[in-house]
Amino acid sequence: MAREIQFFDTTLRDGEQTPGVNFNPQEKLQIALQLEKWGIDTIEAGFPNASPGDFESVTSIANACQRMTVAGLARCKKEDIDAAYKALKGAKYPQIHVFLATSPVHMEYKLKMTPDEVLDSITGHVTYAKKYFAKVQFSPEDATRTPIDFLVKAVQRAVDAGATIINIPDTVGYSNPTEYGQIFKTMREKIQTTEEIIYSSHCHDDLGMATANALAAIENGANRVEGTVNGIGERAGNTALEEVALALYVRKDFYQAGSQIVLAETKKTSDLVSRLSGIAIPKNKAIVGGNAYAHESGIHQDGVLKNPETYEIITPQLVGIQTNSLPLGKLSGRHAFFAKIKELGYDLSEDKKNATFEKFKALADKKKQITDVDLHALVTTQQQVEEAQSVLENLQLQYVANGKQGAIVEIKCPKNTTSYVGTSVGQGSIEAIYSAIDEVYARPVRLAEYQIRALTEGEDSQAEVRVMIEDTETHHMYTGVAINFDVLKASALAYLQANETMKNIFKEEQKA
Ligand code: KIV
Ligand code: ZN
Repeated sequence: MAREIQFFDTTLRDGEQTPGVNFNPQEKLQIALQLEKWGIDTIEAGFPNASPGDFESVTSIANACQRMTVAGLARCKKEDIDAAYKALKGAKYPQIHVFLATSPVHMEYKLKMTPDEVLDSITGHVTYAKKYFAKVQFSPEDATRTPIDFLVKAVQRAVDAGATIINIPDTVGYSNPTEYGQIFKTMREKIQTTEEIIYSSHCHDDLGMATANALAAIENGANRVEGTVNGIGERAGNTALEEVALALYVRKDFYQAGSQIVLAETKKTSDLVSRLSGIAIPKNKAIVGGNAYAHESGIHQDGVLKNPETYEIITPQLVGIQTNSLPLGKLSGRHAFFAKIKELGYDLSEDKKNATFEKFKALADKKKQITDVDLHALVTTQQQVEEAQSVLENLQLQYVANGKQGAIVEIKCPKNTTSYVGTSVGQGSIEAIYSAIDEVYARPVRLAEYQIRALTEGEDSQAEVRVMIEDTETHHMYTGVAINFDVLKASALAYLQANETMKNIFKEEQKA
């Protein structure tokens, strides 16, 4: 296929702007390495000047990636460009992404700059970035609400100053496929240059058109698409890259374009981001949702049995869903277990193998069939336990009176063996446990979301609890996810995890 569309993933930058999503540095690295396996061309690893934590994460991803280009975000500010340069020094293929808003509402109210000042800032900062980076990307933020003549002027300034990648952000998800496609057509006709420019789409999903808009850009000459895994991101999210990858593949007759995406790694990538972000994948989500390959009506089932093509345009196997994978059980030995763990993408060090196998045996005692989902949960829970700065040492519940419950929690810091005890009474068990944990953390929080689901089918399923809490002083959101056979323990662990993330980020902010 002659035309190839590049995939630019911003899960760790725009995706992390999802309320409640806070990846820690190890999680960011784990996601980056999986994105490399998935076939992503460029990863936006973060915004290096945003915080010391962001800087360090971009540096470690830059040093680890072997094939992907690693990009860092920068405003039109010299200190942002300097930070991106320092953070990306170790990257094999570094790239900077400079942006400045060009819409009237952003220029007047947010930037408080005149249009001429904005144009001069673009020239000045792209020229400055070009001294350090061979690949400079420029984004006119809120491009789709920018009058087209001014947008052409802004992009021309960026190209004249050395940008070779032009990204057109639909920052507030305002555009539609006809209009958005037309912008790319106009850019390709009007921008004067002898350089080869890559035009890139960047869409938000406020009106539910992010994927359609990205595909319209491709139809009109964009050779790069920006987005996130599972479409996570600010407000309604970004273009879901798995949707674009599959649309190009399934409708290659129409788009006449391909990509480097390894489709069989899609589900694994999606599951990893869902687990680490704490954002569950809706059942009806295209490509990766639990119902995406389920056929409910009798007519459909009959058709699929006669020929899957009657109602299936994508097979689950194409995106890496193993429908016939054999579950493990009580009698499975070390060999079968570690072979399966490897197949699922984990590379456990020798010293971690014994502990993980013991956990597997304990799980197999309680559960007849151990599926891939259980194994992912087992390994990630084990990783969380090893990295945790606080563990739930003890949880006790007691019926008090009039339906009220009392809870005692003991939280231990394994590093210095200090223990903290919280006690509380609540209308129900969850309220009692959460107030007892609040007593330990002593920060004003509000439980914004609580979700519980069975991890797998069957009565012997483990429970998965996802919570989101809001720090009521800073209004930041934090998520926690935990899996356990005991629903109350899973609830306590998820809440503890969200509080730990909040505590760590709060400490970082105090230092900065
Ligand atoms: O949506 C947006 O405008 C952005 C820019 C930083 C490219 O994310
Ligand atoms: Zn964005």
